[in-house]
Amino acid sequence: MGCPLNGKSKAEFMILHSKDKQWKVKFVILDYDVEAVIKEMMDNLKAKGRTERAGRIMKRVITYGTFDLFHQGHYNILKRARELGDYLIVGVTSESYDIERGKLNVQDSLLKRIENVRKTGFADEIIVEEYQGQKLSDITKYNIDLLVVGSDWRGKFDYLKNYCQVVYLERTKNISSTKLRSEGTIFSVGIVTDDTEDNGMVMESKFVSGLHVESVYSEDIFVAREFCDRYELDSYGTDYERFLGGLDIIYIKSAQKNRADYIRRALERGKYVISDTPMTLNPEEMEELFALAKEHRVVLVEKLTLVYLRAFTQLVWLTHGALVGDVVAVKCAVSQDDFEGGKNFNETVSQALCACIKLLGKDYLEVNTNAVKGSDGEFIYDMITVKYPRALATIEIGTTVDVENELVIIGSKGRITVPNDWWNTGYFEAKVEGQEFLKRYSFNFEGNGLRYLLQELMIMIRDRRTECTRFFYEESETLAELLKTIDQRG
Ligand code: CTP
Repeated sequence: MGCPLNGKSKAEFMILHSKDKQWKVKFVILDYDVEAVIKEMMDNLKAKGRTERAGRIMKRVITYGTFDLFHQGHYNILKRARELGDYLIVGVTSESYDIERGKLNVQDSLLKRIENVRKTGFADEIIVEEYQGQKLSDITKYNIDLLVVGSDWRGKFDYLKNYCQVVYLERTKNISSTKLRSEGTIFSVGIVTDDTEDNGMVMESKFVSGLHVESVYSEDIFVAREFCDRYELDSYGTDYERFLGGLDIIYIKSAQKNRADYIRRALERGKYVISDTPMTLNPEEMEELFALAKEHRVVLVEKLTLVYLRAFTQLVWLTHGALVGDVVAVKCAVSQDDFEGGKNFNETVSQALCACIKLLGKDYLEVNTNAVKGSDGEFIYDMITVKYPRALATIEIGTTVDVENELVIIGSKGRITVPNDWWNTGYFEAKVEGQEFLKRYSFNFEGNGLRYLLQELMIMIRDRRTECTRFFYEESETLAELLKTIDQRG
């Protein structure tokens, strides 16, 4: 038995013990701040979420969601989740988590989504869900008794039943963020092609809200019709001016010789344009096209998906931040057959040149090509070099022979390697001088990169930009200039 003394920081204990068949009383004073200890115990309990309220243990509930374009379904699930316990934690997905899991159609910012959840008054605490697998650590960290999710996730979280109760609540009928998004402005896309094969544009556009691939144009009516049927588009045509009529965005994937003309005519009609690369091998013509885009207050985007990938953006950022010191060399190697199922030489080189320009800049000194041809005059192999004042870029292309695909950045203090298909990657590693272990960087991404380009284009349209900030017009012009020299020398 013990009681606090008035002097604080001490506790006096009365100890009863028997000696020679007689009870004895002994008083012991310990340096023990009873009140402080009680407070500490209560704080621990609170942290663990077991605060007693009106004599009973609190039930802690957690639920998650994106809560984009906040609607009645969101309100209902939060209300019901709160009713199932005493304390509700709501996890709102971060922008990067959504991008990582391929959900590119989210329209509201994270702050706005959090604010909408807060305004319901049901959430006692709001946290951000940033990565896959976070639910498990949240359940332990926040001492959760119950996880609540909508019935669209039924069964998906059963594995968490070892840690807490899991309840799937019936979704509110006839409402979803996806439905609301589809009721907003939709930009219609038209494809200009010479062949009946889609390179992912139709599929990839489905992941970006606000876009709908509507029609296809080809000079050849059979190609146009087959493409339209195959990819279930609304219409096809062989009259370019008529085709342009009802569209907002034109994607040009036809042979390079006609691209500049198609681009020009689309820009003159005030259309946003995405073009396969290279748009033209004539830098002056390219400059004119960009000027035309600016004049008509639209954007002309080259299809260089590399610059829209998070892994590549981060790689450029870290390289410029001197992760491996001053860059001495950039080596890109690509087997042409491996490049998106075998693209033409210029397109393959364009991606590599794009990487070099992003890493080393526009101010090169000279470019050389060392093409190896077979007995029939066909290209077999090429080693292109681009010299910079203090660095060298080499681009190794195997046209009919196999070279090992990789991108390597050699710096004064280490090297960065992007193995395998570096033009469509989510991974790279760095060996930094003085550090024992490799630094590994990994980003989840989906598809062939086109959806990220499309998502960026939607932002450009929304913000009424007149230039693509991922690959500036001047960078495109440098690329065309390099390509022209390579083309002439090769
Ligand atoms: N939810 C619901 N009823 C709806 C819509 C959503 O109960 N009509 C629930 C979901 O099941 C989830 C939570 O609300 O547990 C957050 O859902 P979220 O994915 O953000 O909303 P959706 O409208 O489903 O979004 P999307 O259409 O983008 O998938």
